[in-house]
Amino acid sequence: MKTESGILVTGGAGFIGSNFILDWFHGDGGPVVNLDKLTYAANHANLLEIADRDEYVFVRGDICDAELVGRMFAEYRPRAVVHFAAESHVDRSILGPEAFLKTNIDGTFTLLQGARAYYSGLAGEEKERFRFLHVSTDEVYGTLAPDDPAFHEDTPYAPNSPYAASKAASDHLVRAWVHTYGLPAMITNCSNNYGPFQFPEKLIPLMITHALGGKPLPVYGDGQQVRDWLYVGDHASALRTVLADGRVGETYNIGGNNQKSNLEVVTTLCALLDEMAPESKFRPHQQLIRYVQDRPGHDRRYAIDAHKLAGELKWRPKESFETGLRKTVQWYLDNAAWVENVTSGAYQQWVDKNYGSRGMQKRDTQTAGEGSL
Ligand code: NAD
Ligand code: TYD
Repeated sequence: MKTESGILVTGGAGFIGSNFILDWFHGDGGPVVNLDKLTYAANHANLLEIADRDEYVFVRGDICDAELVGRMFAEYRPRAVVHFAAESHVDRSILGPEAFLKTNIDGTFTLLQGARAYYSGLAGEEKERFRFLHVSTDEVYGTLAPDDPAFHEDTPYAPNSPYAASKAASDHLVRAWVHTYGLPAMITNCSNNYGPFQFPEKLIPLMITHALGGKPLPVYGDGQQVRDWLYVGDHASALRTVLADGRVGETYNIGGNNQKSNLEVVTTLCALLDEMAPESKFRPHQQLIRYVQDRPGHDRRYAIDAHKLAGELKWRPKESFETGLRKTVQWYLDNAAWVENVTSGAYQQWVDKNYGSRGMQKRDTQTAGEGSL
C-alpha cells in the first residue's frame, strides 16, 4: 500500500464521493483512503476501476466511531480530509430523522475531534498544508421566493427539513472548530447534483429508471419547485479547486446556474428518452407523469450565487444542463445492470413507504392515474 501524503475521503462509496475519487485518480491526485459505512446509498462497485490500485485503500466503518476515526488518522496520516459522509435524502429525513442527526451531526463532530487531535500533533510543512474540506449543501440557506437573489455565502442559515437542519448544524460545528481550535477547515455549499452513480431515489435517476420501466413519474405538488442543477463532475472539479487553493475558514458556494422547475426537468428527461431510447415501449414518456401529494415543508426554490468561487479561484462548470443531462441519460441507458443491482431488495420497500399513501393524478385531468410505483 502506498498511502503516505494521501487524502482521507469519507463517504467515498456514495454518489458524489465515488465520482470525486474516480476524478481524483484520473487527475493523478495521489493516494486515497476511503472510510465509508456502506449504507443503502453506497455502492463500492462504483469504484471498481480503481479499487485494485496501490494508492487506494477502502475501510468499511462509521464516522461516529471515535476510536476508528483516531486510528485512521494515526495510521494513514492524511494531508487532507474531504468529508462527504452523510445521510443525504430529504424524504428519508422526513420519515426517519434520527440517522441524519447521528451521522451528519455526531459523525461530523467525531471527525472534527479526530482531525483536531491529529492536527495538533503535526509540525512544519505537514501542519502547514493540512486541510479539512467539509462538503455541504445549499439547503442550509432555506427557501427562496421567485424574485429573491440567489444564495450568497453571507445568506443567513434557515434550514427547513431535518436533512438541511442536520447539515446546517454540521457546518456550524466546522466553523466553530476553525475559530476556536484553529483547525484549517473550509466549507462548500453546493446545489443539486446529478450524473452517473446517483441512487435512484433522487429526482433525476428516479425519473429515468421509472420511465424506462414504464412506471409512473411522481411529481410532487404542482411541480413548480425550482432547483439549481450541477453535473457531478463539475462538483468534483470545484472541490479539487477549493482543496488546492481555497482560503482556510472560508465558505464557497458551488452551483451551475441552471435553475429549472421540477416539471421542466421531468419533461426534458422524457423528451431525451424518447430520442435516446427509441425502442422503449413507453414513448412518449410524458404520458407517465403523475402529480402526487407534495413533500411536507417542500422548499420552493434554491439558487446559488457562485461568483466568489469563480472570481477567487477561477472555477467554472464545464457542462451545461443540456450536455450534462444527455451524458447522464446515456450513462443510465448503458448501465442497466447497475440500476438492477441497486434497485433490487430494500429499494422497493422505500418506494412503497414514500409513495404508497401519496395518491396519484394524471397531468391536466382530475382523474386518478393508474399504475403502480
Ligand atoms: P450519498 O447518500 O449518495 O452518499 C453518502 C455516503 O456516505 C454513502 O456512501 C454512505 O454509505 C456514507 N455514509 C453514510 N453514513 C455514514 C457513516 N455514519 N459513516 C461513514 N459513511 C457513511 O450522498 P451524496 O449525494 O453523494 O452526497 C455526499 C455529500 O454531499 C453529503 O454530505 C451531502 O450532504 C452533500 N451534497 C449532496 C448534494 C446532492 O445533490 N446529492 C448536493 C450538495 C451537497
Ligand atoms: P431530490 O432529488 O430529493 O433533491 P432535494 O430534495 O435535495 O432538492 O428532489 C429534487 C426535487 O424534486 C425536489 O423539489 C423534490 C422533487 N421530487 C419530486 O417531485 N418527485 C420525486 O419523486 C422526488 C424524489 C423528488
